[in-house]
Amino acid sequence: MGKDVIVACDFASREQTMAFLDRFSGRKPFVKIGMELFYAEGPQMVREIRKRGHRIFLDLKLHDIPNTVRKAMSVLRDLDVDITNLHAAGTVAMMEAALEGLTRPDGSRPLLIAVTQLTSTDQAAMERDLWIERPLDQVVMHYAENARKAGLDGVVCSPLEAEKVHAVCGRDFLTVTPGIRFADAAADDQKRIMTPAEAKRIGSDYIVVGRPITAAADPVEAWERCVREFTDEAE
Ligand code: C5P
Repeated sequence: MGKDVIVACDFASREQTMAFLDRFSGRKPFVKIGMELFYAEGPQMVREIRKRGHRIFLDLKLHDIPNTVRKAMSVLRDLDVDITNLHAAGTVAMMEAALEGLTRPDGSRPLLIAVTQLTSTDQAAMERDLWIERPLDQVVMHYAENARKAGLDGVVCSPLEAEKVHAVCGRDFLTVTPGIRFADAAADDQKRIMTPAEAKRIGSDYIVVGRPITAAADPVEAWERCVREFTDEAE
């Protein structure tokens, strides 16, 4: 595992998703299934994509009392995904309970990563709405450390934070980074962006890429370019 491009399949239906994946004719990109597709099509969608041979990041961002999260994770573990996630804001106890629920009787489990602060939350919103008055980057690092203490495998973070997360939590602690754009493309609604090559340079373990691939005229070519820029030893 590690150093791969995860394609965010932000589609509203099975039909759209399958039409998109069919374009890859036999190639198997690592895919991210988020709330929209999961709530629309349910666990069967995950099983179907799995059966086609894709690795899956199930991005449902759980956040509830530890007992509820433990039980929800024990349902998700049977979907046999590669990575799933939760909110670090749910506390260390919740993250520990999640790991318990996710671990199968034979000791295997999907990787579990935490959302620290959403990249849509800025310093002003954090202070105004959440009453958290520390600097945002300190809060992100504290939440990442909590995730590491709880035994999680890594965090979702902005590519600009990945280097510092590795410095604080260790090189083996995974950083999964959205907010990726090609150098010659529009930023859309993403504010803090990096190219795949830059994300590689700062040490991201996985990049999550949505619209630059899903909305491209040729998604397969865009995916190949992304993989090339992010993983090519020569870059
Ligand atoms: O289309 P785009 O490349 O911006 O998609 C990025 C994907 O990563 C989306 O699925 C979005 O929900 C997700 N994401 C993000 N920022 C986060 C967490 C997840 O953009 N902090």
